[in-house]
Amino acid sequence: MSNERGNESIDSILKEARLFNPPSDFSRGARIPDAAALERLYEHARADHSGFWAELARNELTWHTPFQTALDASQAPRYQWFKEGRLNVSYNCLDRQLEQRADKTAIIFEGEQGDVRHISYAELHQDVGRFANALKAHGVHSGDRVVIYMPMIPEAVVAMQACARIAAIHSVVFGGFSAESLKDRIEDAGAKLLITADGGHRGGKIVELKAAADKALSHGCASIEKVIVYQRTAHAINMQTDRDVWWADAIAPQSAQCEPEWVDSEHPLFLLYTSGSTGKPKGIQHSSAGYLLGAIVTMQWVFDIRDDDVFWCTADVGWVTGHSYVAYGPLACGATMVIYEGAPTVPDTGRFWKLCQDHKITIFYTAPTAIRALMKCGDEIPAQYDLSNLRLLGTVGEPINPEAWMWYHRIIGHERCPIVDTWWQTETGAHMIAPIPAAVATKPGSCTRPLPGIVADVVDEQGQSITAPNKGGYLVIKQPWPSMLRTIWGDHERYVKTYWGKFGGKYYLAGDSARRDKDGYFWIMGRIDDVLNVSGHRLGTMEVESALVAHPRVAEAAVVGRPDDIKGEAVFAYVVLRGERPPSGVDAVLTQELRLWVAEQIGPIAKPDDIRYADNLPKTRSGKIMRRLLRAIAAGQPITQDTSTLENEAILLQLQGKV
Ligand code: WT7
Repeated sequence: MSNERGNESIDSILKEARLFNPPSDFSRGARIPDAAALERLYEHARADHSGFWAELARNELTWHTPFQTALDASQAPRYQWFKEGRLNVSYNCLDRQLEQRADKTAIIFEGEQGDVRHISYAELHQDVGRFANALKAHGVHSGDRVVIYMPMIPEAVVAMQACARIAAIHSVVFGGFSAESLKDRIEDAGAKLLITADGGHRGGKIVELKAAADKALSHGCASIEKVIVYQRTAHAINMQTDRDVWWADAIAPQSAQCEPEWVDSEHPLFLLYTSGSTGKPKGIQHSSAGYLLGAIVTMQWVFDIRDDDVFWCTADVGWVTGHSYVAYGPLACGATMVIYEGAPTVPDTGRFWKLCQDHKITIFYTAPTAIRALMKCGDEIPAQYDLSNLRLLGTVGEPINPEAWMWYHRIIGHERCPIVDTWWQTETGAHMIAPIPAAVATKPGSCTRPLPGIVADVVDEQGQSITAPNKGGYLVIKQPWPSMLRTIWGDHERYVKTYWGKFGGKYYLAGDSARRDKDGYFWIMGRIDDVLNVSGHRLGTMEVESALVAHPRVAEAAVVGRPDDIKGEAVFAYVVLRGERPPSGVDAVLTQELRLWVAEQIGPIAKPDDIRYADNLPKTRSGKIMRRLLRAIAAGQPITQDTSTLENEAILLQLQGKV
């Protein structure tokens, strides 16, 4: 890795020097009110790492049986937190709010078509209890896997909470994933029951969830016994007698009281599939107690959540962000949150800002890709809305470029709201590196410093800490933390190898490269593996390649990322056809066919933005595809690599699109 920045521009040096101090009125009432308080937390955590987390676990979680052991590392890297303790996650999110917040609004829901519902904590508790009883009545027991394939509506959260209530393990599959992806995830998890909807509203259209589910089940998924279908759109769908049950019918006979199932701290709360460097997504397995603790403390520390806040995290529950900061964290903190079903552009590009205005949102959390897309629509759009209730802004998913940060700061935050750039991953469960809004000055583009109790570092190839400023290295976490993943479902070996292999089991390897500046601020530089970040979503290049070669006309494919103004990275595919020369000129028909093919295999987010055809792919003597070369070509950069080993140098012109 060579990331020293010898000749950076004066402009970027000056930009990086910009420091935004916490607003003075932010300290009052904040969980971590100032830099001195934060320093004391760091000291506490440094002095007694597991004791620090144990104290938080005792304070912030409601236990049925208290735990005795803070951290058991005897089977590392299968770390176990808060052993002997028993609790229930849904109880911690709902029941414990009933005393003080029964009538407080838990969820403000707005559908894409403008329908609004307010759901109180008491109502949500009942909805979850009733649905949990319905799950039990349909044969779901503790430890069974339930796949949730839903639109972004409150019932998605109800379904997740209901699983947690009865100790079933949910695995949410993003509604934008294809039937094929759904099938793979159902089969890997061995799920017994599927929860879906007749459809959802997105972008003015109906997302055909049930049709996709039918397709997935029609050629596999033998483990599925029942499908519960929520009626959202009321358009015509197929219901298979004996297998499919309407949500309304399932809950009709059920009581709203459902005794929570008390589980061990380590009981798996959920699986969530995410892309890695092979063609097969991994089922990241999270725990109950440690996971929830991570979601709670970061709601408090990073989002500074308070009782009168209206919190909106725009993420879908299909991603980890929608788990920690929609389905669990806000509820466990007794917060009021907004859920919006649809696209940011319906009916126009002011929709997000209108939602902020109409629901008096105070904390807004979204992805840089959304900020960049909305920034392009012009400053006059947000200017039409009253954004004066906003007090804190957040970002997640990819590095935010300083221009977008400044726009967010000026045009949305009116220079009043701190911006929390939160670095974390599906695997980490909760924020790891992020500013504390009342205590840490921010710099556009940096996620600032690790949170107390999170021992992050940047190390070289040998695992030595890199102290020289701005020198890039591997981002690692040197101590276990409560909300960390526990394993990869069904493949513990892959877990050990992927995350702990590089540094002899000592450090968790995040898969990102990073550098630290002279103030110790972290700057995330990007992935070190074959994983793309497309609009804040992880996509394995191998996954897209496998999808492409599954097409009858494709012999070989190589996929790389190309920098993109809005998406961060765009999908760029090089394709070799089977027994055919590359099309001469543009073959729009074939290109469109392959794009749709990939969308069907994985989902629309994986659609290649560019496809370039060639007679073969550039490989080293040992047969490895020269990805760095392909990335340079995709980015339109001059070729600096040694290409003399190429069998056929003439293909360079093809790859560059010059013939
Ligand atoms: C990868 C994790 C965590 C929820 C969303 C994505 C990148 C995430 C940031 C950030 C720079 C970021 C990293 C990371 N990433 N947040 N604030 N700054 N990069 O979850 O799909 O598990 O992806 O997203 O590359 O490894 P995910």
